[in-house]
Amino acid sequence: MRIIGTGSALPKKIVTNEMLSQFLDTSDEWITTRTGIKSRHVISDEKIEDLGAEAVRKALDMSGLKPSDIDLFIVSNVITNQDTPGMSCLVAAKVGLSCPMFDINCACPGFVYALDMAETYYKAGKVKNVLIACIEEPTRMTSWEDRSTCVLFGDGAGAAVLTEGDNIKGTKLHSQPDVDKIWMSRKLVPSPYVTTPDLEVPLQMKGREVFRFAVEACTNGVKRLLDEVGIKKDDVSWFMVHQANKRIIDSIIDFMQVPSERFPVNIHDHGNSSSASCPILLDECNRKGMFKEGDIIVLSAFGAGLLSGAAVLEW
Ligand code: UT7
Repeated sequence: MRIIGTGSALPKKIVTNEMLSQFLDTSDEWITTRTGIKSRHVISDEKIEDLGAEAVRKALDMSGLKPSDIDLFIVSNVITNQDTPGMSCLVAAKVGLSCPMFDINCACPGFVYALDMAETYYKAGKVKNVLIACIEEPTRMTSWEDRSTCVLFGDGAGAAVLTEGDNIKGTKLHSQPDVDKIWMSRKLVPSPYVTTPDLEVPLQMKGREVFRFAVEACTNGVKRLLDEVGIKKDDVSWFMVHQANKRIIDSIIDFMQVPSERFPVNIHDHGNSSSASCPILLDECNRKGMFKEGDIIVLSAFGAGLLSGAAVLEW
């Protein structure tokens, strides 16, 4: 397939590190040096599905396609306060989509997983045009009393429209199931038959172990994928890596020995927006006119599961 439109939307409320240090035992200095984050967009009076619809409309506008042209709508979303119908249906009702649609919950690598699915449906001859949206509000998963998690995240939505083409050169998905490294759990409606208590626990993360996984999964995954498709790392124009932590990105750059200018970053004013991070970055770079026809772009993301994935595209 080929990407012909991108879009993104962010909550209007911007929370700086200084604002966090007013109610948490933290500082701009700690957050900046450990993560590279200075501020993040945080959901307040908006609904995340409205931001999802805005990102989708922008991507459709850029593509020149109408909602009725879309054959499949894939939404990546970890959590929202409405469990059913899924986020794909909530957004479809707002933008007028009526194709087959479903949600995936692959955490931060959701965009790469969705690209892999889109390409697989396309190669099976089932679709011509696919819309992907990653719509995330991780700031509603963390405890705002837990300085080790809440400072890391931001919310937002990113979308991409794909059509026929030979521009996805390859994808590589990876899992290393390990369910206590990043997790949260919430209570369901009580049932008279359930005898075990539900846990209500905000996001928990073993930061250092996730850090190690992220660096290894990204460097190994990208290397294997590039070897498989026969593209040299020096021929890659842009490495769009999940914006989780600037130190993770710097370690990946060190391991891969690639000039840092080829790693666009927006973590300083977004934080980690889970699966929305890659398509938001893609859209921002695209709208700045950074991509030229023929550019090779690598996308790589990692997160809860533990899951990771990489994709290589020609622009
Ligand atoms: O989307 C994928 C999901 N997540 C990630 O990619 C996250 C991967 N991990 C990381 O980014 C880093 O591990 C963190 C940024 C989460 C943490 O950085 P770290 O260098 O691994 O710090 P640490 O967790 O080892 O904590 C060091 C110290 C601790 O204090 P003590 O025990 O040494 O006294 C923490 O309590 O820093 C303390 N700390 C803080 N201090 C000020 C933790 N959070 C904060 C904070 N402000 N916000």
